[in-house]
Amino acid sequence: MEIKFILNKKAVTIDVDPMKRLLDVLRENFGLMGSKEGCGEGECGTCTVLLDGKPITSCITNAIHAEGKEVLTVEGIALEEDGKLLIECFDETNAVQCGFCFPGFLVSSYYYLQTDGDEDLEKIKTALSGNICRCTGYQKIFDSVLLACKRK
Ligand code: FES
Ligand code: FES
Repeated sequence: MEIKFILNKKAVTIDVDPMKRLLDVLRENFGLMGSKEGCGEGECGTCTVLLDGKPITSCITNAIHAEGKEVLTVEGIALEEDGKLLIECFDETNAVQCGFCFPGFLVSSYYYLQTDGDEDLEKIKTALSGNICRCTGYQKIFDSVLLACKRK
């Protein structure tokens, strides 16, 4: 089936099984390897992308759901001003260890910065509650996002 959508601000068309997971479409059909597969069950958040501006877990989203919509991946976010700011803050606070969770955290943090951006630790924790990190203990990640909110 032909599916058309906007991917990182460019119009794209693919001929694909509509039930193929969006995560696989992004990685296999478009070579966007930033979104990762962790749990594959919608629980860990490492495959998070924005669909029409809202975070979704692409491992449990079928390709058909992207039809006519806008998909923004971590690669697209990294080119945006708020994305660059977040990367700078994650870097400065040494928040990233193995980095596997980082794409998902970046997408969720970007969403928070765009839709709220309040310098409130509890709100940031809630905004990132769908993302799991096995390495860091979270505090540095929260500190990074707080720093980005302060700088914005
Ligand atoms: S891989 Fe999608 S939520 Fe874990
Ligand atoms: S830095 Fe390793 S899982 Fe988060």
